[in-house]
Amino acid sequence: MRTITLFILSAGMIISCGRNQKVVETTPWQNDLRLSQKVDSVLRLMTLEEKIGQMNLLTSDWTVTGPSLRSDYIDLIKTGKVGNIFNAHTAAFTRSLQKIAMEETRMKIPLLFGFDVIHGYKTIFPISLGEAASWDLDAIETSARVAASEAAAAGLHWTFAPMVDISRDPRWGRISEGAGEDTHLGSMIARARVKGFQGNHLADLNTIMACAKHYAAYGAAQAGRDYHTVDMSQRVLRDVYLPPFKAALDEGVATFMTSFNDYDGTPATANSFLLDQILRKEWGFKGFVVSDYTSVNEMIAHGTAADLKDAAKQAAGVGLDMDMQGMAFSDYLEQLVGEGKISENIIDDAVRRILSMKFRLGLFDDPYCYCDEERESTVVFSKENLEKAKEVACKSFVLLKNANQTLPLSTNKRIAIIGDLANNREDMLGSWFGAGEAASVTTILEGMKSQFPRVTYVKGCDPVSNDRSGFTNAVLAARNADVIVFVMGEKGNMSGEAASRASIDIPGIQTQLLVELKKTGKPIVVLIATGRPLTLEKEAELADALLVIWFPGTQAGAAVAEALSGAFNPSGKLPVSFPVSVGQIPLYYNVKNTGRPLHGNEKYTSRYLDVPNQPLFVFGYGLSYTTFEYSDLQISPKEMSAKSPIQISVTVTNTGNFDGSEVVQLYVRDLVGSVTRPIKELKGFQKVSIPKGGAQRVSFSLVAEDLAFTRSNNEWGFEYGEFEASVGSNSKDVITERFLLK
Ligand code: NOJ
Repeated sequence: MRTITLFILSAGMIISCGRNQKVVETTPWQNDLRLSQKVDSVLRLMTLEEKIGQMNLLTSDWTVTGPSLRSDYIDLIKTGKVGNIFNAHTAAFTRSLQKIAMEETRMKIPLLFGFDVIHGYKTIFPISLGEAASWDLDAIETSARVAASEAAAAGLHWTFAPMVDISRDPRWGRISEGAGEDTHLGSMIARARVKGFQGNHLADLNTIMACAKHYAAYGAAQAGRDYHTVDMSQRVLRDVYLPPFKAALDEGVATFMTSFNDYDGTPATANSFLLDQILRKEWGFKGFVVSDYTSVNEMIAHGTAADLKDAAKQAAGVGLDMDMQGMAFSDYLEQLVGEGKISENIIDDAVRRILSMKFRLGLFDDPYCYCDEERESTVVFSKENLEKAKEVACKSFVLLKNANQTLPLSTNKRIAIIGDLANNREDMLGSWFGAGEAASVTTILEGMKSQFPRVTYVKGCDPVSNDRSGFTNAVLAARNADVIVFVMGEKGNMSGEAASRASIDIPGIQTQLLVELKKTGKPIVVLIATGRPLTLEKEAELADALLVIWFPGTQAGAAVAEALSGAFNPSGKLPVSFPVSVGQIPLYYNVKNTGRPLHGNEKYTSRYLDVPNQPLFVFGYGLSYTTFEYSDLQISPKEMSAKSPIQISVTVTNTGNFDGSEVVQLYVRDLVGSVTRPIKELKGFQKVSIPKGGAQRVSFSLVAEDLAFTRSNNEWGFEYGEFEASVGSNSKDVITERFLLK
């Protein structure tokens, strides 16, 4: 075996972007000639086998996030057969693995470490859907930045986030990992998350590479069953599901991950339409694409590959750069090149893309710069990070009902806190909680006790068992209290991957306990812990106040106490509709009108006999302890041209008794199109803080390009004609004016 000690010395000279003497990227990296020269200088020295090793990503034995596990990854690192590891973290462990790559392999190419840092590394923020409910892009970016800084200090270079899949189906457990049902909101959040993770410079020590996943259309798994088939027109794909991916790309996302599903009959992992035509050719993506966990292998089960060799050929052939955990590339690419079935140029291009990222991260300069135990101990769980996690958790809460101003609660009230979820650490973390630790979570009970001195706690029941033995004590405690706070909902693992539900009712016997508590006549505050929209008709009726808290993360208790005491005034808005019944799914606000729209009680219109068409709580809905009034909607000028924008403005007045924040939402309807158009589409939103008694003029600028869609000729663009602009506090309660695009 040839040794290349000399290479490392020369690499040190070739590469000038030292981590300590940082070079600011003046040229976009995609056009950086020096970067490509550096990459080629490494590539030239590599054997085909080593190149293929760079296209291989394997899990360590620390965490299992998929169905199978290779235990020999250490041997594979030594032989250069794997260049990237996931599910290995902490400065010490990643350093020990990096040492193997740097000291025991021929090429000494640093390993890349990836991990699912979804809503926090150790300091866990609210689940992604909860964060989306804040509609606060700065808060969301902050969350991603904190996650990145902790992860980067713990040896990580790459997160498998953000998940930018739109989903209109709350049965699908992974709806918890995304930004909800809306394309515009989802796109804005995708950008905020990529910005938060990647910052301005990948080589900075508080940034990591992001990964836009799951490309594409994974959120439309039929019937909400995870991994199920997707069947969707190209128009819907392009108008609804793809824009958040494009937004992530525009923000500079370094990597994409393919999805498990098929699209139009071809698994996404080998789908040339998605990977080659759209991603590379139309959008010009220059980063690398990784498969999802064994999704190359799963092409055999999909029935489009005869065997693993065939699957490897198809996936590499359309531009998949890295195989996660499947060993398909590792086992077959060399053979395929030898047989002339895959050109070595394809391999070289993939390796170039991967090495470019390793360079951009600064790894060739100092492969250990992310494995700094001292930094890890100061950054992870820092006071500032915990404070930010609390702030974002507060912002994620959505107040759905507040009869008789039940909330906020004055601190001298006697409070009966009921429900297993109130005294529970792990569930507060939700799904995919990175390296989060249940032990570090402040429970809701602890948080409440710190602000309300007269608290009693009774479990009553838990979300899954049918044990009613705790009901009596719960009712007794309720009788002796001034107010009941019942924390109910799902357990943290009831949403997320492989956690679809056919019923989205509150699980178990929790609602039965709520019925018993109601009989005490005491005011009831219901907190809903959930990773998805639930059907809450009965609970909404029984509760005096209803607050969706999602899974708030490490600071659950502190955040809940601040919201219930009024120290924080809730301002979240639903990023996804909450149905009346599971039978309404798929349910989303931006539906088409149909040829027979609902009209009173007329029979032959598009409706159900047994439930309304509308959700129980519409997209964009959320109350505050104060009230806001909208008035004086003005559009100026009333005519827009292809080149000149219009301004849409409205006055928002805080008419209640508290200072508060409001998310002002702008929707547009294209009245006549060459194809059917949604009855409204979110086009803008602004979160404004308005003191009680105050008023603010809120203005949106709209350009013709904002009105573009896939027209009947399948081209992207806007169409001239008349539009409605609606502004309001949710997708239903709006005031409307018309304008022309001429
Ligand atoms: C499978 C999941 O679909 C994906 O989101 C995740 O990033 C990988 N496993 C790695 O854990």
